[in-house]
Amino acid sequence: MFYAYEKFPSIYAIILYNWPMKILGIESSCDETAAAVVSVAKNQQFDILSNVVYSQTKEHIEYGGVVPEIASRAHMERMDQIVQQALEQSQTTLADVDAIAYTQGPGLLGGLIVAQSFAKSLHLATGKPIIGVNHLEGHALTAHLTEKLNFPYLLLLVSGGHCQFIHVTDLGQYQLLGSTLDDSIGECFDKVAKMLGLPYPGGPNIERLAQDGDPTAFNFPLTLQDGSVNFSFSGLKSAIRRQLEALSDDERQNAMSDICASFQHTVSRILQKKCAIALQQTQSKQLVLAGGVAANKLLRSELNSLCAENNVTFHAPPLKLCTDNAVMIAYAGALRFVANPQTADYKTLQAKPRWPLDQL
Ligand code: KG4
Ligand code: ZN
Repeated sequence: MFYAYEKFPSIYAIILYNWPMKILGIESSCDETAAAVVSVAKNQQFDILSNVVYSQTKEHIEYGGVVPEIASRAHMERMDQIVQQALEQSQTTLADVDAIAYTQGPGLLGGLIVAQSFAKSLHLATGKPIIGVNHLEGHALTAHLTEKLNFPYLLLLVSGGHCQFIHVTDLGQYQLLGSTLDDSIGECFDKVAKMLGLPYPGGPNIERLAQDGDPTAFNFPLTLQDGSVNFSFSGLKSAIRRQLEALSDDERQNAMSDICASFQHTVSRILQKKCAIALQQTQSKQLVLAGGVAANKLLRSELNSLCAENNVTFHAPPLKLCTDNAVMIAYAGALRFVANPQTADYKTLQAKPRWPLDQL
């Protein structure tokens, strides 16, 4: 159970804590090792005091995607330095921290265990309360922090791990409207890039080549046009594979930019069609685009145009808070903590690789 916004902050929190409160956030659910400190004042003013992210791209580049074993080892090797840096940059000591929020799920189990063990160790060493946060709730609330967006809003989360619509109607009230039936959108960019011999992460490389290509050169399928707000990218990937197989090596080299541009254009059209349905379903007047794929300029500008045509405002949080980070974990943890400082016994907190947002 979450809380009514009017009760923020709870009377317990006002009596028990010194204000402003400081919350340390820790994240390691995929391939970013991250820590951050946010402060929260009694008047609901939130400040980001630090935001440290180590992205493991180097570790995974030769495999063309995230390797879970390598990711968890890399989290373990760096977590203490990253947390130390986040504390130093915020000029905070562990003694000044009021609570520790960490990503409890969903994500890769090995990575989740690193943040969880680290947070539990800090809790045991310092006695500071510990809060397990749902990573998707972090993404869902980011626009509430960065854009000061009022509820309700429609979130399209497009990342390496997710492709889903969430209707955020209030704090703690999230409705999962639809999601991918197979690959996430980021995975699709990465796999298509791999087929084209482009390095990981594929999204930025496809975007770069697409700049010089013709988006109408190839006609790739608009997958899963079934009137739902679910996605499927496997058919699109297969169509590109078949197209590549039909080309000679030389033709393929010459067509690289056109294939990238046509693929990106197809993804953009799929997202536009799905957004139009989701906006219609929810009657939402605000669309938020978040996740690593939100870095793509074509997707941003075309979704922006779609929103403008439909009298909907378009929001994309700053990229460094759109991709995986610990500010969003600290923020979601802070909101929960100030509403209810009676946190769970640390022994009951278990990492949850699968944890849909509507099951919070
Ligand atoms: O949210 P994110 O940083 O992390 C995870 O979900 O792990 O998303 C990473 C994904 C990768 O698949 C990457 O290829 C994709 O975001 N991405 C992009 C762009 N920049 C990153 N996709 C398309 N266009 C981009 N400019
Ligand atoms: Zn994420």
